[in-house]
Formats: sequence, structure tokens, C-alpha cells
Amino acid sequence: MIKVTLFLFLFGVSFLFESSNAQCLQCDSGTNATCVNPDGASGARACSNGAQCYVRVVDDGRVLRGCQSELPDTAKENCSDKEDEVTCKLCNFNACNAGLFPHHRIFCHFCDERNSNRNCSLAIEGTPSPCRTFLANDKCIVRKEGDHVIRQCLSDYEDCSKEKSCKVCDSHGM
Ligand SMILES: *[C@@H]1O[C@H](CO)[C@@H](O)[C@H](O)[C@H]1NC(C)=O
Ligand SMILES: *[C@@H]1O[C@H](CO)[C@@H](O)[C@H](O)[C@H]1NC(C)=O
Ligand SMILES: *[C@@H]1O[C@H](CO)[C@@H](O)[C@H](O)[C@H]1NC(C)=O
Repeated sequence: MIKVTLFLFLFGVSFLFESSNAQCLQCDSGTNATCVNPDGASGARACSNGAQCYVRVVDDGRVLRGCQSELPDTAKENCSDKEDEVTCKLCNFNACNAGLFPHHRIFCHFCDERNSNRNCSLAIEGTPSPCRTFLANDKCIVRKEGDHVIRQCLSDYEDCSKEKSCKVCDSHGM
């Protein structure tokens, strides 16, 4: 009995200790492209108050990550701990606000002949990356500016539909 009680006590203490020290990623994809899909705890910092972390997407398509205590009041109503929450997710263990958010956002190939010597009209190599700005129903596009081929996301260039030399792709910008 004493052992069980001691175990429960230690478990409780270590749980408190851990949760009060949970660290959250704190970044803004508007100034830090890694913030779109950080894959680990690198850059996580302890919150000054409380243990919950948030990750949210704001109206201009940026992803913000940080401590719940720093959320503006107007943002709180959209936050929940549901896994498929689209605009703001709360969670409470170390670096739990890492990872792609919203998790269904699309990936495209990026290539820009205006500032690289790569031939973007050739078959595409490498792995696609998530679009930097979140837009519901985003697509990958390929377009031409003068002689230069450019591959990017519709959210990077919403005028695509108005231009004959811009094509919306079915998949990752193939
Ligand atoms: C960008 O954000 C990531 C994830 O939080 C962090 O690891 C990295 O240090 C940040 N980079 C800069 C330049 O702040
Ligand atoms: C809350 O969510 C709604 C619907 O997605 C959105 O229109 C609104 O801007 C959000 N509010 C804040 C403060 O993020
Ligand atoms: C890119 O490759 C295509 C297909 O091989 C070729 O027609 C085109 O001239 C190349 N463009 C450049 C800038 O090298």
C-alpha cells in the first residue's frame, strides 16, 4: 500500500513537474518559413504562464505558434484541442505544436527560372514542400513570365486564372 501510494505521489509530482515545464514552439511563418512545418522541438521555449501550446492559422494565411497565455482574447474562441481543428489547436506537451498545420495543407514543387539556372520545364525532381501561405483549396501552378518558367502555389499568385500562360495543376505541380 505504501509503495502504491508512493508511486502515485511520485507519478503525480513528475506529471506536475513535466506539465509546468512544457515548452512550445514560438514562431510566425510570415517571418520564418520553417514555421509552416517545423518537424521537431528545435526552438521550443518554456511559456511564462501555463503549459498549453497553440498553433493557429490567421486570415492572411500565416501560421502562428506559441503559448496559450499569449493568445489574443479574440483568437481564443476558435481554439480547441480537437485533432482536426482547422484554425487553432491547443495541446499540452513539449513541442506538441510542431508539425504541419492545418494538417491537410498541400505540397507543391517550387522552381523559378528568374532566380536560378535550373530548367523548370524539365521533369521535376526532389520532394515538394508545403505552400507557405495557407489558402483553403490551394493548388499548385506552373506559369511563364517572359521566357522564365515558374512553379509555385496558387496562394503565391492568385492572378493565375486570369492568365493564359498560367496553368493550375492536378497534383504537386508536375
Ligand atoms: C524558425 O522557427 C523554427 C521553429 O520554431 C525555429 O527552430 C527556428 O530557430 C526559427 N528560425 C529563426 C531564424 O528564427
Ligand atoms: C475564427 O474562425 C472563423 C472561421 O474560420 C474566422 O472567420 C475568424 O476570423 C476567426 N477568428 C479569429 C480571431 O481568428
Ligand atoms: C529546358 O528543357 C527543354 C526540354 O528539354 C528545352 O526545350 C528548353 O530549351 C530548356 N530551356 C533552357 C532554358 O535550358
